[in-house]
Parts: sequence; structure tokens; C-alpha cells
Amino acid sequence: MIFDTHAHYDDGQFDEDRAELLASMAENGVGIIVNVSASYASCERVTDMVRDYPFLYAAVGVHPDEVGDLNEESFARMKALFTREKVVAVGEIGLDYYWEKESHEIQKKWFIRQLELAGELGLPVVIHSREAAADTMEIMKRYAKGLKGVIHCYSYSREMAKEYVKMGFYIGVGGVVTFKNARKLKETVEEIPLASIVLETDCPYLAPVPYRGKRNHSAYIRYVAEEVARLKGLSCEEVIRQTEKNAKELYGFSAE
Ligand code: NI
Repeated sequence: MIFDTHAHYDDGQFDEDRAELLASMAENGVGIIVNVSASYASCERVTDMVRDYPFLYAAVGVHPDEVGDLNEESFARMKALFTREKVVAVGEIGLDYYWEKESHEIQKKWFIRQLELAGELGLPVVIHSREAAADTMEIMKRYAKGLKGVIHCYSYSREMAKEYVKMGFYIGVGGVVTFKNARKLKETVEEIPLASIVLETDCPYLAPVPYRGKRNHSAYIRYVAEEVARLKGLSCEEVIRQTEKNAKELYGFSAE
């Protein structure tokens, strides 16, 4: 079954047909979805949503664009959400120097605090990093030692991907790999072992070809799996099977 390691089903773009869409996942071959919070407000929403859907799990954390909402008090409230059921990771957290909504110093401070929280809780991390390759690597080397994690929507060089793989992290691959101009990501997928790749949507964003630009959802991961299979000379089923195994290992479902 398809394991979507990164989705945002609390997003307003799903308000009209969320229940219907999620109800159709099993028949479309989707087994498990991790719904990842981005803003401070969505941390509570994702932990509420998992109660309604047995195949849905939550990651709680604040995205670098949104860390302006964090202070000691809100951080403590967020931390309390980890006592709820089906919270399997800290994320998404990281650095975003593309939008630069918050200063680099503030972003780094809360990235490190959330990495330390993951260490404290013994949970994996979901990393968002955009145009911040060097700083992200530096912080990961120092503060993510011994943690499991995924570099979600990987967008850097294949050399750096190999370095993350060596450190034991997974590389998150989504709709972008199907884009014609995604040469760098295609090369990365060719070069790193399938055992280090997990599939993701980042839905409602980043729908794969032939739905590029439209609203994305987890069943479209099939197109991502097909492209990964083509690049690696494997069958689509083999890619779905192995990436499901990887995702279970990442989020600690292996024992089930
Ligand atoms: Ni995301």
C-alpha cells in the first residue's frame, strides 16, 4: 500500500470534500498518511483529525515561516500535544530562506529547540529546508545526531543527499520528481538507494504530472512511484512496497 509520509489535510483547500476524499483512500491503494502540521494553529487541528480516521497519523511542529508565533508559553502548549494519541513525529521544522518570513536567527533558534524536543521525546523529525542548505546541514550535524528523520521535498544536490543518507536520514520525494525540469532531483533519485527514499505528497501542493498545478492528494503518489520506478529501472509495485517499508521504519511502525 502507498504510504504518504507528508500531507496537509487540515488545509482549507480540502474543506469541501475532506471526508469523502479521505474515505476513498483505501480503494485507491493508500494505506497510511502522516498529516503534518505547519503553523502553530494546525498543531492542534492535526491531532484532532487523527481521531476520525484510523489510517491517519500526526506530526506536530512549527514550520520556519511560522515560528514568529512561538514563545515559551506557546511552545509549552505545543509540547503538551505530544501526549495525545497517534502523534508520530516532530514536524515540519527547519529553515526557509526563500520566503524569509522570519529572521535567520529566529528560524535557527526554533529549529534547534524543536530538534531538541524530538530528542527528548524520542521521535523522528520532518525537515523543511529551502535555500538554506548549508545552515540546515550544520544544524542537523550538531543537533540531530541519533535522531531518525526525513528531509522532506528534497531540493538540494545529490552529493548532499548522499551525505544525509550516510547520516541515516530519509529523502522525501514527491510530485516535483515528475516535472520535466526537475533534473537535479531525478539525478538524486537515480543515485541514492531506494532503501533511503520515502514518498510524499505535501498535498494540497505540488501535484505530480499530469495534475501539475491542480490540488494534490495521496492517491496521486502513484505517479511519483511510477517516475521513481522508471529512474531506477524497477517496477512501480516494488517502489511502493519498499518505500512503505522505509516509511514504517522512519515513523516507528515497524513492530506492528
Ligand atoms: Ni509540507
